Amino acid sequence: MASWLLQILLISSFHLISLSSQKETTFVFESFLDQEDLYLDASAKVLPGGVLQLTNNSKYQIGHAFYDKPLELSSSFSTHFVCALVKKPKIEGGHGIAFIVSPSMDFSHAQPTRYLGVFDASTLESSPSSHVLAVELDTIWNPEFKDIKGSNHVGIDVNSPVSVAVAPASYYSDIEKKNESMNLLSGKPVQVWVDYEDTMLNVSIAPLKVKKPSRPLLSHPIDLSDIFPNISKLYVGFSAATGNAVSDQYIMWWSFSTDRRSLQRLDTSRLAELPYPTGTDKKLLALFIILFGVLAIVGLTIIA
Ligand SMILES: *[C@@H]1O[C@H](CO)[C@@H](O)[C@H](O)[C@H]1NC(C)=O
Ligand SMILES: *[C@@H]1O[C@H](CO)[C@@H](O)[C@H](O)[C@H]1NC(C)=O
Ligand SMILES: *[C@@H]1O[C@H](CO)[C@@H](O)[C@H](O)[C@H]1NC(C)=O
Ligand SMILES: *[C@@H]1O[C@H](CO)[C@@H](O)[C@H](O)[C@H]1NC(C)=O
Repeated sequence: MASWLLQILLISSFHLISLSSQKETTFVFESFLDQEDLYLDASAKVLPGGVLQLTNNSKYQIGHAFYDKPLELSSSFSTHFVCALVKKPKIEGGHGIAFIVSPSMDFSHAQPTRYLGVFDASTLESSPSSHVLAVELDTIWNPEFKDIKGSNHVGIDVNSPVSVAVAPASYYSDIEKKNESMNLLSGKPVQVWVDYEDTMLNVSIAPLKVKKPSRPLLSHPIDLSDIFPNISKLYVGFSAATGNAVSDQYIMWWSFSTDRRSLQRLDTSRLAELPYPTGTDKKLLALFIILFGVLAIVGLTIIA
């Protein structure tokens, strides 16, 4: 009896040891103000409202933001973030935002436009010397990268901008029981989830009000130890770039953990606000002003 109990205790403690073999890291940026652990370069800056702006809508911009401590990503990680890509009316929006995992925070070699500030022309063919994993929200169609036709897509990139997996920007609606397409350039906040476990990488996107879809948009076998020589020292963060096509590209909230169970949840009521109203809000504002004007005139006429 005692040895039977001891055996169970031993097995369960081994299980605990194997579970805790990866050093756990969990963090959340509810606002990007007063955050010591943030590395920013080039166009990236934190706006007074607490939103992280990776690029503004000038041409050929690049911006990066990293959690500035190296992490051990030997078995799993999960991240959930909210971003927004805001284009000006009548101007082509581009190019996109990528979540990146990299052994270095130095992307000074990277190019803007379709390279998204992650890659450069020399990495067009997957090169063993470039070690980077990117999940791209791409708003421009690049036929030479085997992007799917139509600008608006999500892709997984390994060491090269030629995606290993790609799908049109959409999400599985658990209410409608079907795929719903999404316009990445609507200017509205977009939620993104990236989960890595058991050498599978899953990616989902959804509008702000929708909970995490039960079916991922992309699910692709990825082994971080095949991509990186040392999985004990990796940085996680974001890149964004513009070209001739431009948009303001923001990260509004970011949660990350090496253990999915510890990932902090999003409280949409506390989300930092974008610096100016997006298209639909402007239309609503205009409607209110007109309505107010009409009511004022009617009121004045009655008084007179
Ligand atoms: C965009 O950012 C760049 C680099 O930070 C700056 O030089 C440029 O003036 C900005 N453009 C606008 C329209 O604010
Ligand atoms: C990825 O998605 C598949 C299919 O839904 C699921 O079986 C698997 O558990 C998911 N893995 C992660 C790490 O989310
Ligand atoms: C929904 O989208 C996913 C990912 O693109 C695809 O694999 C799946 O077949 C689609 N399902 C339907 C019902 O269209
Ligand atoms: C991997 O990175 C860790 C943490 O910086 C370091 O201790 C270890 O020596 C590195 N291993 C190799 C093989 O470079």
